Amino acid sequence: MKTTIVGGGGRVGSNAAICLQCAGIVSEIQILDANQDLAEGEALDLLHGASSLADQRIYAGGYDRAADSDVFVITAGLRRKPDESRLDLINRNVGLFSQILDSIKSAGMKEDAIVFVVSNPVDVLTHLAVSFLGLPSNQVIGLGTMLDTARFRSLIADELDLAPTQVKALILGEHGDTMLPIWSSASVGGLPLTGVKGCDPNFQRQIFERTKKSGAEVISRKGGAGWAVGATIAETVHAIALDKKQLLPVSSLQNGCYGLKDVCLSVPTVVGRSGAEKHIEIDLWPKEKQGLQASARALQEMLKNVG
Ligand code: 2OP
Repeated sequence: MKTTIVGGGGRVGSNAAICLQCAGIVSEIQILDANQDLAEGEALDLLHGASSLADQRIYAGGYDRAADSDVFVITAGLRRKPDESRLDLINRNVGLFSQILDSIKSAGMKEDAIVFVVSNPVDVLTHLAVSFLGLPSNQVIGLGTMLDTARFRSLIADELDLAPTQVKALILGEHGDTMLPIWSSASVGGLPLTGVKGCDPNFQRQIFERTKKSGAEVISRKGGAGWAVGATIAETVHAIALDKKQLLPVSSLQNGCYGLKDVCLSVPTVVGRSGAEKHIEIDLWPKEKQGLQASARALQEMLKNVG
């Protein structure tokens, strides 16, 4: 299966590429970037390691060469300037993002191609991609709260001295200020996480606040996220490539789950070769369901203001 990373010359895109290469599951990785030199440099650097990692075809190329992609991962995007509002960033990124969508569409796509949006604001841009590309909505997904969920699980495990892969704790809603923790189904090794010593309401509040601020925390220290976002991108691409039917908190267009419609945000979603194949309305506490609906309202308001 071929994956093209649009923005693959950047930190997020190249970190996603190394995660895909180390796993050795996809057969082909194309690095596409507005900075062609950078794309070729990243592709070459990755290719050099192929003999120690995996038997894949790795190269740089433009939109025409990407027309046979099974998955387009779009990581290209501008970062917020220090004094810039989220809305200003949205409108700057919407312009760039629309050009990328137009280039993908004009070069042609496979009928069953999946478009996987990572660029921020991811839920708004996922919605834009659904509207612009005219693909069945299940074929357009966003990273959504995949990264937030990974951070949440890893930070909980680190604080409570548990195995990170065994901690199952979801973040749903917007990848942004209105994201919400789902403690009602949180578990470790199949046991309720809230029953673990140390996981009291105060700890729960603190670890969620830290999760929510993790993007800003990483940006302030190293300029921007890379490794964890690359890992969650690869996890999602592999669910598609292997048709895993994994339940993942990716962002996709809602059509009724939890009463939500016409908004892209993260709910438990079955991810397989057809993308967001099904939304699963797991039981939530009333306050969790209210939080999800508040997140949807906030995103619908933001969508109205997009130029
Ligand atoms: C993050 O959460 C910036 O969305 C990116 O790290």
